Amino acid sequence: HPRPGRPVPGTDFDPVPPNKFDAVTTPQGYGQSVVIRWGDAVVPGAPKFDFRNQTAAAQAKQFGYNNDFVGLIPQDPLGIRNLLVVNHEYTTEVHLFPADQYDPKNPTEEQAKIAWAAHGLSVVQTFRDPVFGALRTVPSPLNRRITLDTEFEVRGPAAGSKFLKTSADPSGRKVRGTQNNCSGGVTPWGTVLSGEENFHQYFANADKVTDPGDPSAATRLKRYAIGTGESTRKWERFDKRWDVAREPNEPNRFGWVVEIDPHDPHSTPIKHTALGRFKHEAANVKITKDGRVAVYSGDDERFEYIYKYVSKGKYKKGDSAHARRHNSGLLDDGTLYVGKFTGNSPGEIDGTGKLPSDGEFDGTGSWIPLASGDKSFVDGFSAEEVYVFTRQAADKAGATKMDRPEDIEPNPVNGRIYAALTNNTDRGAAGKAGADEPNPRNGNKNGHVLEWDEDNGDSASLTFSWRLLLVCGDPKTADTYFGGFPKEQVSPISCPDNVAFDRHGNLWISTDGNTLGANDGLFSVPVDGPERGHVKQFLSVPVGAETCGPVVTDNLVLVAVQHPGENAASSANPTSHWPDGGTAQPRPAIVSVWKKGFFGLAGRIGVR
Ligand code: FEO
Ligand code: CA
Ligand code: CA
Ligand code: CA
Repeated sequence: HPRPGRPVPGTDFDPVPPNKFDAVTTPQGYGQSVVIRWGDAVVPGAPKFDFRNQTAAAQAKQFGYNNDFVGLIPQDPLGIRNLLVVNHEYTTEVHLFPADQYDPKNPTEEQAKIAWAAHGLSVVQTFRDPVFGALRTVPSPLNRRITLDTEFEVRGPAAGSKFLKTSADPSGRKVRGTQNNCSGGVTPWGTVLSGEENFHQYFANADKVTDPGDPSAATRLKRYAIGTGESTRKWERFDKRWDVAREPNEPNRFGWVVEIDPHDPHSTPIKHTALGRFKHEAANVKITKDGRVAVYSGDDERFEYIYKYVSKGKYKKGDSAHARRHNSGLLDDGTLYVGKFTGNSPGEIDGTGKLPSDGEFDGTGSWIPLASGDKSFVDGFSAEEVYVFTRQAADKAGATKMDRPEDIEPNPVNGRIYAALTNNTDRGAAGKAGADEPNPRNGNKNGHVLEWDEDNGDSASLTFSWRLLLVCGDPKTADTYFGGFPKEQVSPISCPDNVAFDRHGNLWISTDGNTLGANDGLFSVPVDGPERGHVKQFLSVPVGAETCGPVVTDNLVLVAVQHPGENAASSANPTSHWPDGGTAQPRPAIVSVWKKGFFGLAGRIGVR
């Protein structure tokens, strides 16, 4: 085992102990501020947030609900002005509205429309105070809200597909809005990719779809778990597109990777069909050795897959309007692959998390091609079917069923790819797949973190070697593993979700759903050298919240505090009053954290 060394740059701070505070708790010597919260103004004319008198028109100008992905795109070499791009994943109406105004059985049309406006994304210009560290928003013509009413252009091989046509859009090329945008990624050309994740939950009546002309219609809806009966939000009462019995193709218009160009507030956002349709957690880009674009994306559901896309054309450096247009087009013509992970310790995985005799959960893998342009590689599937019903094509191809693939990100320093597998309590359950080397625990409550090296260090490679960096949980239990680092020195970590890297190549992991009895948080972990696996908790989030974002720069950390107080049954009895305090309702918000340095100057994150 490696010996612990000196703290590596970027991770030298006193870890925050696990806690249940209704606060963002940071290490000693760090400052924090709320950058923007649900209901704050994004575009001009946004009224002041009023919990008891909210309107759809107001919400469409204000910061949306349940912030998840955070992108920070520098607009100058010093990173003083930046565009902040944030996803608004989903709504829980019992928290969105005062309890005496919201009847879950009978929401009003205005309440449905408020929720549509609370979804989507926000683009906000920000100013980073170079002296005191805090990030704050500024009014700007670039500020923008994208909601469930914003028009999107469908691009790539499934644009215009018969599976995408509806009565409102006979072209199959224009979709109204985006929903359930979970995590995402900033592209090398300065746009944002965002994953439409749990899109199934917004739809009603999939069980009523029977199409004698297409007997697979019902099977397809089922494979994506599209909502049956009445939906929770009951939007189908106000717009028939949410009623699958009436608009059977509407669910096929969600579940894509979307691209937003924050530099152009008038740009039409894009849905890229070449990246496949599934419950995309996120999408992150790496340039291949010959200058093409690879995109990694996970399908976040139990026993789902990890995907890669490689473009045909080559990347043009820069973030000019011309480069943005060209590079965005690379996401419309290429090859979509799905991952197969094979262990090298066959017969030694017993489902308890016990390490095999070679000392690692590791092995090799390959990328199985599913489709390229108009050509399908999967028997019985047209290319169009591969893109729209990607899960079923991947089933057929024999991909490896993973424990809920969340965020996937390339490490800019060591070139390896890292994926958070958040948990899968059904692993090994009756009738379900049992543990294997890449998913080595049955009843996996705490998740794990996977790393892989594409062969030749090239994201265009079709083979790779992999190993688990972390098997998360309470380090006092035998079923955990921290890259071989002494377990008595690490912070407990559970349910890894979004990931990011700092400039030094340290991995930062935000968590969602801590099963260890404490609030969620943000953790750093070096991935190379003697400190590999030394997990340290950098911050914790308030009661009921998950930690999202994150963005880690030299002197600023940003986290999205998503759904504080969500563990309350309704807004009548809040379990969290963060961030406004007192008796206020909780509000999802973005928080900036900086190190308090000498003479009030912001110091460097994780450096003493
Ligand atoms: Fe929205 Fe997979 O977390
Ligand atoms: Ca092994
Ligand atoms: Ca997530
Ligand atoms: Ca999550």
